[in-house]
Amino acid sequence: MCGIIGGISLSANAAATVYDGLLRLEYRGYDSAGISALDGGAITTVKRGGRVSALGKDAAALAGRAAIGHTRWATHGAPSDINAHPHNSGAFSLVHNGIIENYAELKAELVARGYSFASETDSEVIVKLIDDCFSGDFPAAVAAALRRLKGSFAVAVLYAGFDGVIVARYKSSLIVSGCKEGIFAASDVPALPADAENIFVLEDGDIAVITSGGVRFYDFYLNPVARVQRHIVRGEYDSDAGNYPHFMLKEICQDARTVADTAEAFSRSADLAAISSAVGDAEEIIITGCGTAYNAGLMARRYFEQAGKRHVRIEIASELRYYPPADCSRALVIAVSQSGETADTVEAVRLLKARGATIIAVTNCGYSAITRTADIVVPVCAGAEICVAATKSYLGQLVALRLISRARSALAEAEELVAVARKMPEVLACDEMSSLFADECAQSSAVFFLGRGADYDAAVEASLKLKEVSYIFSDAYPAGELKHGTLALVDESTLSVFVICQPLTAEKCINAVHEVLCRGGRVAVITDDDALAAQLVGIPVWKLPAVNSELSPLLAAVALQLTAYKAAVLLERNPDKPRNLAKSVTVE
Ligand code: M6R
Repeated sequence: MCGIIGGISLSANAAATVYDGLLRLEYRGYDSAGISALDGGAITTVKRGGRVSALGKDAAALAGRAAIGHTRWATHGAPSDINAHPHNSGAFSLVHNGIIENYAELKAELVARGYSFASETDSEVIVKLIDDCFSGDFPAAVAAALRRLKGSFAVAVLYAGFDGVIVARYKSSLIVSGCKEGIFAASDVPALPADAENIFVLEDGDIAVITSGGVRFYDFYLNPVARVQRHIVRGEYDSDAGNYPHFMLKEICQDARTVADTAEAFSRSADLAAISSAVGDAEEIIITGCGTAYNAGLMARRYFEQAGKRHVRIEIASELRYYPPADCSRALVIAVSQSGETADTVEAVRLLKARGATIIAVTNCGYSAITRTADIVVPVCAGAEICVAATKSYLGQLVALRLISRARSALAEAEELVAVARKMPEVLACDEMSSLFADECAQSSAVFFLGRGADYDAAVEASLKLKEVSYIFSDAYPAGELKHGTLALVDESTLSVFVICQPLTAEKCINAVHEVLCRGGRVAVITDDDALAAQLVGIPVWKLPAVNSELSPLLAAVALQLTAYKAAVLLERNPDKPRNLAKSVTVE
């Protein structure tokens, strides 16, 4: 969840590269930040609570050829100057992403050996342990310390007597790349200098020793290992909001492009036959993910059922990893993850694969842990998604999942999806309506999203989006459930947003609309049905372009993402960096 970067610069300016990289890594955590630079055998550290920019120009100007940096999402110890990384011990400085599960035991041992701790973090034990293991050989000390850790980590370490940086990974992402400026390791591609186009992806249990002479890879016993370089297309990692005030708005505006690109990539995929037979042969399909990715899976369960599959389950990955089915040997697991690095999803996939399941990964990141574990990878072509709230990746996931469920007729299905994407600009152009919806939300003590069938699935994601960026309490229900309890919460301070695009249950939803209205609750409706829209007088009604009702939730998603964005802005929240959250949840 934190972001790390470290490396060696050919100029004496490593800290500047690290600082710029941290600014681009902030989506992984933004409650404190810090940089250490090594210059002439001395390490200088600047760290502070708050955003990377709070480090100020001094940090970026630290002299030295080697530097490491960190942007934090707190797990152990509140966000503060002291708990910010890097953590230091003697001649060593370290940044860490992950969680050290046996830190209390290690800390007690180190305290007994005379070490004192400045912070409340689990990470500080790593640097003290390296210091304790050191007897003249830096790589050996790092390796010995890492072998004692339990949990997950990506680390970058400086030693005052070594002209370079050592990085290592276990269950937290880390890549290394050479560029004009030097050689840098980072949690993710956007942090790397713009000309870095070839990356090494570290495997769990890898150490990389980075010096001006190059990078060498080892295991935790310092046996050399070979890692293959991969080419990446940097255009995909455009991490600039451009003319948009926020990444969230930019990314919502890329929904249509994501749908079209994902559909096109799928229909050109060399794996169509393999996907078709994996789906056809499976006795059971288990779709899994977390957050928005889980919500895409909710909708996908219907896609598979509509396509005739009988045993389709959707499981939250954090539950599935601890409560897996006893026998998965005939199961197809479809793991959905924008980042491909979400710890719970990664572990669920590894566990079910070990139990014999076939894995299809639906991911936006071609070099992620999930991608590398899967039997088949179906790419979501969203490009870099920087806003913490998932928007365009959700649309891409829906498209990929829809097409997996219909791989035999992929071309025709892809065309239909592209036709839906062409209607998205029309939805985005409803400026007055999206502002009205946002205004209604912003005035509410709670917002309930209601729908039936696939509209309910869209409502679940709409609710997550609104609450995470606006902090307004929100929940979603199948509209028929309202009268079984939630109606007790309805009054003039609450808003009920109905999504009504399923003809089968549209009339039933209208009954629920009236049940709310006659109890003084406020209501807003999204529908693609003209006749229905005409019946609803005196309340905001957002009329969507009509499409196949199985796909209308894609248009509703665009409308409700825009609503959430505008509500956040109205309430003066930063939608790109909601409080307490981070983009890649790489810890449990
Ligand atoms: O990278 P992933 O898709 O695996 O991430 C899963 C969730 O953490 C993510 O969707 C999260 O819920 C977002 N904040 C939703 O907007």
